[in-house]
Amino acid sequence: MQVWKEYQEKNKERFLNELLELLRIPSVSAKTEHKEDMIRCAEAVKQRLLEAGVDKAEIHATAGHPIVYAEKITDPSKPTVLVYGHYDVQPPEPLELWKSGPFDPQIIDGKIFARGSCDDKGQVYMHVKALETLIQTNTLTNNIKFCIEGEEEVGSPNLGKFVKENKALLKADCVLISDSAMISLDTPSLDIGLRGLSYIEVEVTGPNRDLHSGVYGGAVANPITILAKMIASLHDENNHITIPGFYDDVLISSEEERALMAKAPFDVEEYKKDLGVKELWGEKGYSTNERTGIRPTLELNGIWGGYTGEGAKTVLPSKAFAKISARLVPNQESDKMTDLLINHLQKIAPPFVTVKAALHHGGEPYVTPIDSKAYKAAAKAIEATFGKSPIPVRGGGSIPICALFEKELGIKIVLMGFGLDSDNLHSPNEKFDIANFYKGIETIPYFHQFFSE
Ligand code: BES
Ligand code: MN
Ligand code: MN
Repeated sequence: MQVWKEYQEKNKERFLNELLELLRIPSVSAKTEHKEDMIRCAEAVKQRLLEAGVDKAEIHATAGHPIVYAEKITDPSKPTVLVYGHYDVQPPEPLELWKSGPFDPQIIDGKIFARGSCDDKGQVYMHVKALETLIQTNTLTNNIKFCIEGEEEVGSPNLGKFVKENKALLKADCVLISDSAMISLDTPSLDIGLRGLSYIEVEVTGPNRDLHSGVYGGAVANPITILAKMIASLHDENNHITIPGFYDDVLISSEEERALMAKAPFDVEEYKKDLGVKELWGEKGYSTNERTGIRPTLELNGIWGGYTGEGAKTVLPSKAFAKISARLVPNQESDKMTDLLINHLQKIAPPFVTVKAALHHGGEPYVTPIDSKAYKAAAKAIEATFGKSPIPVRGGGSIPICALFEKELGIKIVLMGFGLDSDNLHSPNEKFDIANFYKGIETIPYFHQFFSE
């Protein structure tokens, strides 16, 4: 629509500067030292929504970080879109690997470098500016609600309760989420699924205290060695996961589905080059896109123990630790898989050590059909601004609240992400292309228009 284009063209500098402002707030949900920043960031999001023209915006306190809720009700008889996103970010460490400060956004080569630029403040902000565009050009015909939480990166521990207790407030006809990626601006795609998660922490204890590695070494099992062996045994030579029952509930994709996936453009050489690896690794019998889309995985997120400080210390440590997560696909259930994982680790623990394992957080996988009204509206919106219809793909990441929204609110979710897989999410030098940011702002109003038709 011409009026949207004109309005956005006139205001694009301001849109960008406002986003940079938001990126300066270090809203790291995982760390208690940022509690005040979280409140400040929630306030800023609320304020921006009010400025964009919502009728009401409020901050809902939770047992953790606050949730921002806002709404613009144009006509109650028209469809309502619930926009979900998160204003919290992952910890920026290791800081020394950033080329500029994680909370001091810099624009280099048309990209915004900052923690949260893509995941997810930049993408949330596209929705705020899309709303502003619709309101300022008098073209909003549907109703829009916003639920922007501050705990997505720590597993949304308090959002479920909020959703269950506020079903009437959140009542909508679909949920629209921009918190994922597309293949590229030349090859737009829409996620039709996300993986679930089971995340545990393991503590392996050997002797009751740290020991001199010369005096005791050789006589007592080293918990780091034992843990390393246990971990190494979790994959076989084909990179299949060895835990009995791990694949039992995996929904096997049909050959048609796999053939369709194989059509999505994917440049292996480019992928390897971007990651700096000579060869790719993964479960035998599956393509890279299948390995990250339709297959479950087991990842080590962290492993530590003993002495890791400066210099050398000859110590046989008492304990070793690991953070382990499994990405799940339909129909695996997070709780069941967590139990399976914990029980397996207990079972394979040799008698030289004791193993304690506990859940961090989890979430269910999500898949959505491509014939829903909401998916069709998103595909049409992409066509309108990209001139190409999007390729449906399965995303590898997780947004655990998706399955819960669908269950509690009885509505479908559309994953209209504008990031790129190479945007360094959760890594140093996270970035978001300004072109993608503007493309999102341009596309979202079409979604509202088509969805309310
Ligand atoms: N935005 C991501 C999820 C994502 C990334 C989906 C890329 C699709 C493509 C989200 O913020 C995220 O990082 N989620 C966590 C899960 C959470 C429980 C910590 C994840 O996937 O690790
Ligand atoms: Mn995210
Ligand atoms: Mn994330």
